[in-house]
Amino acid sequence: HTKVIKVDKNSIHFSPEGRLTITDKVTENALKEATEIIKTPGGVVAFPTETVYGLGGSSLCTESVKAIYAAKHRPADNPLISHIASIDQLQRRLLLPGQEIPEVYKPLIDKFWPGPLTIILPIPDKSKSPISTAVTANGDTFTVRMPVHPIARALISMCDLPIAAPSANASTRPSPTRASHVYHDLKGRIPLILDGGSCDVGLESTVIDGTVDPPMLLRPGGVSVEQIRAAGGPFWKKIVIARRLSTGKNEPVKTPGMKYRHYSPTAEVVLFIGCGDGVSSVRKYVKDKGLEGKKIALLRSKEFAEAKEMGIEIERDLGRDGLEIQRNVFSELREVDEMGVDYIFVEGVGEDHEGLAIMNRLNKAASVVVREQAS
Ligand code: TXA
Ligand code: MG
Repeated sequence: HTKVIKVDKNSIHFSPEGRLTITDKVTENALKEATEIIKTPGGVVAFPTETVYGLGGSSLCTESVKAIYAAKHRPADNPLISHIASIDQLQRRLLLPGQEIPEVYKPLIDKFWPGPLTIILPIPDKSKSPISTAVTANGDTFTVRMPVHPIARALISMCDLPIAAPSANASTRPSPTRASHVYHDLKGRIPLILDGGSCDVGLESTVIDGTVDPPMLLRPGGVSVEQIRAAGGPFWKKIVIARRLSTGKNEPVKTPGMKYRHYSPTAEVVLFIGCGDGVSSVRKYVKDKGLEGKKIALLRSKEFAEAKEMGIEIERDLGRDGLEIQRNVFSELREVDEMGVDYIFVEGVGEDHEGLAIMNRLNKAASVVVREQAS
């Protein structure tokens, strides 16, 4: 049995000194219940963040982390991000005595925390680290981010534990941006979902590695590469995109998340890139593959004509700009999938600003990419 409790993020207030007050009783009680679960070995809770919903458990407890992997059916060699509510908590709970956050991260932490940016930190001595080896897949590094969502921040500070949290979807499915998505994938497998409404960013955090020179972008996400280059000073101007798209087969794996099937609805996703208004490309694809009579949904972004001009009945607009498309992409994939369509045709976007993260997810979701012109 999975309980879903509606919580109100506007009822949560942090004083400048970090003192938490919650003015709504239901929200307060739900957070207390969630806190008790997280503090119990093996306890996991789904909660909203500004990016996507997370499935959280204590980063310091192997039993809890194992429960996360089990609920999601996630491969155990794909490590998790730890979530903290303050720098103080990062120092007290995750770093070794005397260990400092590398200087290179300072300008980005100042600019983007709390927010959708995840950094990699070294574990200088695994035998002394408090982090469960299940979080790191027994590696020599860990990843951490400070979410801005008030429900996430309140939960982490009430537990006073770092919370390991992958996206709260079943492994391989599109990430969840609403509590109903979490319920759909994980009902019966987790005790509690905190329903804080839909997520503002809509796709996951950006994962960066500043422990190498040049620094690397391991996963594009809610903070764009352009923003990192602009805010990070000379070091971050050199940032290298670990792998542009996930479709290449021969590049070495830099971050475990890269090698897995991801973000896939049940319907087959066909991604159209550089196809202008889409009419001739889509019509040609339908004809060539003999898809007349199939149930197809079209997700439009910027330039595509209306679906009816392509002989397609179901149409959704992803949005007019990068932020809107980013916010809607996972939920629209899920929504049309729920309608039982056979195919989801998606109009791709350019790979600058939010487009890099959007196309990263769409390329992973797609089983076919139709590319009309180099873009
Ligand atoms: O926005 C987000 O980051 C969400 C919310 C819940 O905070 N979380 C999330 O977690 O997307 P997850 O587990 O779905 O993705 C974590 C990514 C994976 O691609 C994983 O391979 C990578 O981060 N990662 C985690 N720890 C790592 C490490 N030590 N070294 C390299 N990559 C790591
Ligand atoms: Mg995920």
